[in-house]
Amino acid sequence: MILLNFTQKRLVSLGNYLKRMGRKNRQYNKFAQRKRDRKEQAKNPQEKPAPDVRKHYEDIVRENAAFEEYYKGQKVCPEEEWETFMNTLKENLPTAFRITGSKCEAAALMKIVKSQYFSEILNMKLQVEEGEGQGEEIKPINLPWYPGGYAWQLRLSRTDIRRNEALYKLHNFLVAETAAGGVSRQETVSMIPPVVLDVQPHHKVLDMCAAPGSKTAQLIEFLHADEDKMPTGFVMANDVDNSRCYMLVHQAKRLNSPCILITNHDSAVMPSLVVADEQNPGSTKPLKFDRILCDVPCSGDATLRKNPDIWLKWSTGNGNNLHGIQYRVLKRGCELLEVGGRLVYSTCSFNPVENEAVVHRVLQETAGSVALVNVADMLPGLKFRPGMTYWRPASKDMVFYEKYEDVPEKWQTVVRPQMFPPKPEDLDKYHLDRCIRILPHQQDTGGFFVAVFEKLAPLPWEKDMKPAEATETKKEEPKEPPKKKRRMGGYREDPFVFFSGDQEDVFPSIKQFYDLNSDFDATCLLTRCFVGKKKNIYLVSPIVKDVVMKNEANIKIINTGVKTFVRCDNKNMVCPFRLSQEGLQSITQFIGPARRLRILKEDLILVLQNDNPSKPPDVKLFSKQTQEAVKEFATGSCVLEYKEEGQETNLSLTLVGWRGVHSLRAYTATPDTVHYLRLLGADYSKYDVNKFKKASDVPEADAEGDGDVTEATESTSAAAGSSETNGDEAETTSAAAGSSETNGDVQMTEQTAS
Ligand SMILES: C[S@@+](CC[C@H](N)C(=O)[O-])C[C@H]1O[C@@H](n2cnc3c(N)ncnc32)[C@H](O)[C@@H]1O
Repeated sequence: MILLNFTQKRLVSLGNYLKRMGRKNRQYNKFAQRKRDRKEQAKNPQEKPAPDVRKHYEDIVRENAAFEEYYKGQKVCPEEEWETFMNTLKENLPTAFRITGSKCEAAALMKIVKSQYFSEILNMKLQVEEGEGQGEEIKPINLPWYPGGYAWQLRLSRTDIRRNEALYKLHNFLVAETAAGGVSRQETVSMIPPVVLDVQPHHKVLDMCAAPGSKTAQLIEFLHADEDKMPTGFVMANDVDNSRCYMLVHQAKRLNSPCILITNHDSAVMPSLVVADEQNPGSTKPLKFDRILCDVPCSGDATLRKNPDIWLKWSTGNGNNLHGIQYRVLKRGCELLEVGGRLVYSTCSFNPVENEAVVHRVLQETAGSVALVNVADMLPGLKFRPGMTYWRPASKDMVFYEKYEDVPEKWQTVVRPQMFPPKPEDLDKYHLDRCIRILPHQQDTGGFFVAVFEKLAPLPWEKDMKPAEATETKKEEPKEPPKKKRRMGGYREDPFVFFSGDQEDVFPSIKQFYDLNSDFDATCLLTRCFVGKKKNIYLVSPIVKDVVMKNEANIKIINTGVKTFVRCDNKNMVCPFRLSQEGLQSITQFIGPARRLRILKEDLILVLQNDNPSKPPDVKLFSKQTQEAVKEFATGSCVLEYKEEGQETNLSLTLVGWRGVHSLRAYTATPDTVHYLRLLGADYSKYDVNKFKKASDVPEADAEGDGDVTEATESTSAAAGSSETNGDEAETTSAAAGSSETNGDVQMTEQTAS
């Protein structure tokens, strides 16, 4: 039975299409039109809004004559593969995802994915329509080059998964686990740059153009590879677009890392930052990064399968116009890179003007101080084409040029001399063939371009700098924290106010109640307000604290820190702060036995399955062992620990709990609750709603929201927006679902309930 029509081919002829469009590739500025419509409506508020004329993706004719002519002319694809290349580009993109999280949780989740969801797909004998043939089974593909084998590609598009009732469990799984941080949905090829960047836990990492943050998430995962220790490195995720920075905040929240900071700057002119100089205590030195990801803004034409609207607006001008900013960002990246460090330059464009030409320009200017690295060994099984060594820039009227001297004057500001390929005699100097270009038909993915650089020596202009500029060490001067909020465009950010130390007003009671050991550094805690009651307390790693404190005046920091303690003025709590699940993994090692509770599997399931905040499970319902353990346990927030004995995955879970006068409950957000129940093999069916059954009359648009973040579509709005300006999102807990919430503080109903 054919359930899916995966390869929906749009066979409207180009001639008809052009006739319909009026003229070849006529540009339609939908934003300007909407602005005009709004103005009109403001004049006459009674009038109905104009109908939405935006094209649904499925109605888009997936053809563009200029695109074909340009790329055929550039020979990006061998002639004999051209037809397959073009046909693949017109198909929807398969879904891909990675399993993330701690090693034992990822291993357990992987087992569940294979045994339940994949066998579900296979058992259904779903088939894809392949011409007139019988079709083939949709087998999930394990990406051989992804570390740990944690990445998968399905031969199903997002729409296939979303729209098929038979796949609702898989869809629910992907949505819930994405929210819980157990899964990251990401296009296959977009996973490559962080893999070849080779991030280690001690690296200082800069993600120059980071939003919406799918690659940042990978960088954070690699940074936390050694999960028993807090990484000594960190990730600075930057984006020039203030509203898109809040997508990064959302990503970071999912991953609960105290080692990330989010900044909002034009990375082409990223300011020089400083860090403490360990060799000269009390002094600072320039901050150079060990790893830099330079995933620059690009024309995005290699994402045509995911963003079919690009078929309507593609032109040669797009790539030419972006070359300049791409070059400037890459050049600044090379400057901020430590000698011996690695930088990855990537785009989701096929265009050599945005790719090899930018790489060549920087290699030329840096005169041997940076070089391309061959990383094929890091990507076993990945099919790709080597970087191009020859191309011809073209003007908007589709004239190709062999050399700059041939460019007519009127195009000389657009087609620049630096866009041309190296002379044949210089080819060996640059090794452009070490670049990687992935074409969609090679393994049924999107397209991508990746170049990996290594910095071998200071750049020529760094050598010319006076020693003071290059390795400037400054004596630290005690600095007052800024009193006023600065505003550099976008939302106002609340300040980052670090605890002064053990004597900070609220800390002694926290330390005593949670039995924190003396290794815990209270100066790594911070709040987002100078005055008034502290509400949420965040934790950062020591290096992040150092970067924030020393550079706050130079760069706009949007967010940092993982929420660790939340104010909870409950009369049964000696300490006015409860633990937060987000920060638990970072602080658990410091919490003493007085607030830790070992719990059996059946008791943990009981706790997690309770979704009635006013009726937490009575202690009497738990096993004798747990009843014994809680007998002398003081009321209030605590750590619930579960360790699976004798199983191959050795599942070990740590959750925030609450010991009531007569009860015990978990204090986790709903996606986390589902995640833990799933890992424990328990029943979570009340959360696994079949949306097709539940609300068959829900309008299509509502039913479709699946919480995905779209990459590379610059227009995607940052959903988080102003509600997250202080990084505090309302935390919904399964136990407290339905209770009133303000500022992330769930109102405890413990006294009445117990
Ligand atoms: C291709 S997207 C990055 C995708 C991202 N790396 C990911 O994996 O989710 C390019 C991003 O660069 C940002 N950008 C554009 N110009 C920039 C600049 N001059 N400095 C920093 N970011 C810039 C855009 O706002 C956009 O979010």
